[in-house]
Amino acid sequence: MATKNMSSEGSIKRKKLQKIGVFTSGGDSPGMNAAIRAVTRAALANKLKVVGIRRGYQGMIEGDFINLKSSDVSGILQLGGTMLKTARSAEFRTAEGREKAFQQLKKADIDAVVVIGGDGSFTGALVMSQEYDISFVGIPGTIDNDMYGTDYTIGYDTALNTVVEAVDKIKDTARSHGRIFFVEVMGREAGLLALTSGIACGAEVILIPEAKGDFNSLKKFLDKGYRNKETSGIVMVAEGDEAGGALKIAEDVRKSHPDLDVRVSILGHIQRGGSPTAKDRVNATKMGVAAIEALLDDQKSIMIGLDNEKIVHVPFNKAVKLNHTIDTNLLDIQKLLNI
Ligand code: F6P
Repeated sequence: MATKNMSSEGSIKRKKLQKIGVFTSGGDSPGMNAAIRAVTRAALANKLKVVGIRRGYQGMIEGDFINLKSSDVSGILQLGGTMLKTARSAEFRTAEGREKAFQQLKKADIDAVVVIGGDGSFTGALVMSQEYDISFVGIPGTIDNDMYGTDYTIGYDTALNTVVEAVDKIKDTARSHGRIFFVEVMGREAGLLALTSGIACGAEVILIPEAKGDFNSLKKFLDKGYRNKETSGIVMVAEGDEAGGALKIAEDVRKSHPDLDVRVSILGHIQRGGSPTAKDRVNATKMGVAAIEALLDDQKSIMIGLDNEKIVHVPFNKAVKLNHTIDTNLLDIQKLLNI
């Protein structure tokens, strides 16, 4: 709990948890609202007061707080985006910014905070909890699904389904024209979304940052596979692939294979929006409740994760420092089936 007081005997007496803050930070992801609702209602059910911190760490610095009642989180479960809004705050990266943020939390009597976000958001929470006496518990919310220690991050399932729906449509036109489409999927440093959506859509080639040298499979496909099959093709490209984005790769292919009819489709931020899938809603709800249980249990600086559907607690320093490894078996499967 947040405030430690020294009793007359000299032992540390912790202030009883009474009021929590909740906020979303970094890139939004579908299901964040479901998590806010679960956090709020689980806290209220445990007689805790709840403050919504708007616009991520920037709102914390500026004291942009709203008291949340049960009715304030009614009707948001199925909505994409985040009712608390989000931001990437440069000011919070400075010691002065974090000092201001802490003073605002203190002024509002907030004892502990639930942060819903990704890597950068948990790094901020870890740094602040080392500098000040404030407890943070994290809920992983990012479409990238790239956090160490959890099988799943909120929003990934919805984004995956959004990509699959879009690529199915692209395949119709690709097939009709006999074209090769380079489809760029989000993931600056992570390729899981491109990998799983590529498998779900039967993409001929998948290029992701975690698989170095996968450019060879593209070459092979262009030199042999495409001509043999005389058909269309989908190349899924993760935004962060080392060969460059879809535009750059397609440009290179146009030069090396001028006879091919090449098009590019960058799916962009539609992947971050939309109503969350049932899976995202259920998992966000489970994680939201688990975050409050963890705070009531006096836990701090941990991320709530899911390991084989079971709730786990992952220390922030592991969640942010270790890499989420990608199941390369999925890549092998994709190659095996593309004969
Ligand atoms: O972290 C989620 C993510 O969607 C990444 O996949 C992507 O690279 C990034 O956010 C884009 O962020 P922004 O919306 O700030 O451009």
